[in-house]
Amino acid sequence: MLSQADNERITRVGRGTPMGEVMRRYWQPILMTSELAEADGAPIRVRILGENLIAFRDTNGKVGLVDAYCPHRRAPMFYGRNEECGLRCVYHGWKFDTDGNCVELPTEPESSKMKDHIKIAAYPTFEGGGLIWCYMGPKDKMPEPPDYEWMRAPETHCRMSKTYESCNWVQALEGGLDTAHSSFAHNNGDWADNELRQRDKSPKLEVEKTDYGYTYISFRGAGDDGTYIRVYQYMMPGQQARGNVTQASGRSNNPKMDGHIWVPIDDESCMVYNWACGIDENAPVSLEFFEKFEKQMGRGHDDHIPGTFKLKKNLENDYLIDRELQKNRTYYTGIVGINTQDFALQEGMGPICDRSEEHLGSTDKAIIAMRNLLLEATRDVEAGKMPRGADPKTHSHVRAFDSLVPHGQDWKQAMAEDLRAKW
Ligand code: FES
Ligand SMILES: [Fe+2]
Repeated sequence: MLSQADNERITRVGRGTPMGEVMRRYWQPILMTSELAEADGAPIRVRILGENLIAFRDTNGKVGLVDAYCPHRRAPMFYGRNEECGLRCVYHGWKFDTDGNCVELPTEPESSKMKDHIKIAAYPTFEGGGLIWCYMGPKDKMPEPPDYEWMRAPETHCRMSKTYESCNWVQALEGGLDTAHSSFAHNNGDWADNELRQRDKSPKLEVEKTDYGYTYISFRGAGDDGTYIRVYQYMMPGQQARGNVTQASGRSNNPKMDGHIWVPIDDESCMVYNWACGIDENAPVSLEFFEKFEKQMGRGHDDHIPGTFKLKKNLENDYLIDRELQKNRTYYTGIVGINTQDFALQEGMGPICDRSEEHLGSTDKAIIAMRNLLLEATRDVEAGKMPRGADPKTHSHVRAFDSLVPHGQDWKQAMAEDLRAKW
């Protein structure tokens, strides 16, 4: 359990809150590049860490991320004209570049120097790995842009999607660092990939702290096949990566690693970026494969409310739970879609989970370790230090993997090479 005070400390993300300040010391994804592909195209609303912003791609292809409201009389910049290297407010024509400088102020006489003093709040952006990232913290503390291995894979090998989740980011992240639930919540009968996780439902866990977060290893007995070892990486503050290699080989799926990044929209909702990455040159992730994978996860094209990243099956309709399906045991939850099952459990906790009421067990080790790292990061940032994992040198070499290791073999030795980034 966590005290109410610590729970508040890790869940709240507004500017000036302890975790809000931590989150602002990392580069955070704001959009998929595909959402903002066109120079001088339509601006997009972005809400992140409780701030309302507008993203636009200027004439030269540079991405701007500015305050959603004009500094003149606070008109919405969303309706702005994106033209000739700047976003122009359509109320009185003031125009701003991607750095937030006012480049035209047509309501004042030409001789006026007012333009030189006017700025719109703007955050630096960076593009990589199919995502647009921003940095919202103090300029003098800005780390180098992120450099996760999957960001270096060719476009044919790494695919990306995103889904809106209606709850606090920490309980969503906890779901991603909880291997034990996959033997239950995701026991779907028809999901062959989960077979190894069905053989042993009380995995032994190890958590090894690293300078980017931790490596989290689950050990499941696999009978004569040895031990099924799944290595997750927790990369602070909100990313999980895991191997999907062994379970997939010999079946229909590609050997790959995949993961999620949970980005707080505000205290009570988050955006989940879902990536899947082939692990070597011979393992591209075709669009066709990725779409099938997304469908299985419950977030295919047809699963979304058109024009949004919200799922049709959601809290308001109880995720279309089918009690018959649940009763006849082919589906443990009665809910179809793997991430839909996750969302039902995570969103169903309420907007911000009350952790003072929990009773944690031995399979919650990784979750406890993650909370402790978040609390540590709040203290580090308060002490003026860079939080763990913000420097890309700490995470660029990291890869997640899973493997069946024969009895009597040292897993660390057996998997050492597989856990080093190859891209
Ligand atoms: S409110 Fe934007 S230019 Fe006047
Ligand atoms: Fe899950």
